[in-house]
Amino acid sequence: MKNLKRILIFRYALIITAALIAVSLLVIIPIRSYTISREQNNLEEQAQLFARDFQRFFSVEITPDEIDAYLEELAGDLPIRLTVIDTEGSVLGDSNFPAEEMENHAGRPEVAAALEGRVASARRDSRTLGRGFIYAAAPITIDGEVAGVARVALEEADVMPLVFQVWWIILIAFGVLLVVIITVSIWTERTVIAGLNDMREAAAGLAGGDLDRRVAQPDIEEFSELAREFNTMAEQVRSRVEEAAEESGKLETVLDNISAGVMVTDSESRIVMLNAAADGIMNVEGEKAVGRRIIEVFSNRELDLAVSRAAAGESIDEEIELVYPQRMFLLLKSNPVRGTDGQVVATVSAIEDITALKRLNQVRQDFVANVSHELRTPVATIRALTDSLLDGAVDEKERAERFLKDLDREATRLSQLIEDLLTLSRLEAKETGLQLEEFHLAELVQECLQSKRTLAEEYGVRLDVEPSEQELAIRGDRQLLGTALNNLIDNAIKYNRAGGRVTVAMQADKSGGGVTVKVEDDGIGIPREELPRVFERFYRIDKARSRDTGGTGLGLSIVKHIAELHGGAVTVSSVMGEGSEFTIVIPEN
Ligand SMILES: Nc1ncnc2c1ncn2[C@@H]1O[C@H](COP(=O)(O)OP(=O)(O)OP(=O)(O)O)[C@@H](O)[C@H]1O
Ligand SMILES: [Mg+2]
Repeated sequence: MKNLKRILIFRYALIITAALIAVSLLVIIPIRSYTISREQNNLEEQAQLFARDFQRFFSVEITPDEIDAYLEELAGDLPIRLTVIDTEGSVLGDSNFPAEEMENHAGRPEVAAALEGRVASARRDSRTLGRGFIYAAAPITIDGEVAGVARVALEEADVMPLVFQVWWIILIAFGVLLVVIITVSIWTERTVIAGLNDMREAAAGLAGGDLDRRVAQPDIEEFSELAREFNTMAEQVRSRVEEAAEESGKLETVLDNISAGVMVTDSESRIVMLNAAADGIMNVEGEKAVGRRIIEVFSNRELDLAVSRAAAGESIDEEIELVYPQRMFLLLKSNPVRGTDGQVVATVSAIEDITALKRLNQVRQDFVANVSHELRTPVATIRALTDSLLDGAVDEKERAERFLKDLDREATRLSQLIEDLLTLSRLEAKETGLQLEEFHLAELVQECLQSKRTLAEEYGVRLDVEPSEQELAIRGDRQLLGTALNNLIDNAIKYNRAGGRVTVAMQADKSGGGVTVKVEDDGIGIPREELPRVFERFYRIDKARSRDTGGTGLGLSIVKHIAELHGGAVTVSSVMGEGSEFTIVIPEN
């Protein structure tokens, strides 16, 4: 690429070269022709002088060698060459060369003129030496007749020192001018470049995001205008950028305030944006995820593939199981976004967390399966017993009685199961309406213990109540709290050993205005690892023992429901082989 400094130097150099050529032509050529014509005159005069002297060669007998020697001596240290020529043009003698070796000179214009009796001169390049010479010739006359020609020659270079001097002066002037030009060019370039550099830096700053960057007003008029234009432009850029930022800020606020997760990816599955809901749902830091590929952020092929398919133009509506950063189920709806040319430029995905929904569904399915299973066993037994009775056992009094007892047990068990299921479903439906009333907790406890007396005797377990100092009045659903207590006491009796004991203790809750009721036993205990699961529906630790005692595994989940409906909770602690302790906390209602 060209640069300003070089352009300036080159152009100025071109100008002075042209100027110098013109000066040379105007000065050197006239000086040269003046010098030559002056020298020609001089030489003509010398030629005439020599012509007179050379008459002697024609009056005496003399050999060419003697003439040569004479001429050489005559020329001496002078820069001239002397030649003597006869009327035929043959060289009789020469100061510089042996005469016999020289060609005929009759054709030389100055010689020809002298042979006709005139004095003449000429300038030409010597055929013998190839350099420029000035020649002058004069006739040698004897008794008015031309007897020969005397010629004087002078090398042009010997009379041109003036021209060379002028040449030198011009060359030196050229050199000086060149230095001046380079200096001026660099100086000019600096001034111009300084102005331009400021603007270039400002433009780079602006492009790099420094929106407050402006340029100073330079002294040069043209630049000052440019600077003004630049500053106006910078101002416009700033306001546009601010507008755009404001717009995108609005969009971001909107996106962050919608509850659905929104993810935007580019056509190569790189995350462009995750709104706050999406960050929350998928538990990633949006800022860290942006710019990275889906596969890098979630390590999930399924999700990556679904979004890639959307990027290929499909509309996606899929459930996806995510394992990382946490196990969850997503409902993904992805759609391609097309540019004006119809090409997919991005995908927009709506993301919904359906983990809870899925879990609930699973719970429901398990529940139905469990219920069916629990119902099937007693029903099958009942059918078998009735079949046996119908097949004739009814006629055998003893067998019939045994079968009928079994029938009664199974029917009771069935009705108990149905009762529990009904209670549970009523509790689930009751989220809003409890039948709250004020009552004395101690009375309710007494009633419950009373109703379990027979069962306790049957299992050989003693029932106790720890009296509390103050009368505990409580507000709650008396019937439901009775059910809960009955269930806890029932378990404490059943999962006990002969000679064991059950203690019910109550006290006012220290932290709030509520109460805590504790049902404690010294029975078989619950393994530590089973503790968190005992409140699940249908969960029984020892299935066989539970069946013997007629348990369905619903009791504790009913207790938990009741406590939670009252805004309270039920907790358990237990040591294997030593006993268990269930505590219900009911806050003030
Ligand atoms: N006090 C306790 N001591 C030892 N194990 C207990 C005690 N209470 C409950 N369990 C265990 O927890 C399981 C669940 O109790 P839950 O009351 O929910 O069901 P269940 O007693 O088997 O049947 P249901 O109460 O519906 O008749 C029981 O099967 C039993 O294994
Ligand atoms: Mg129970």
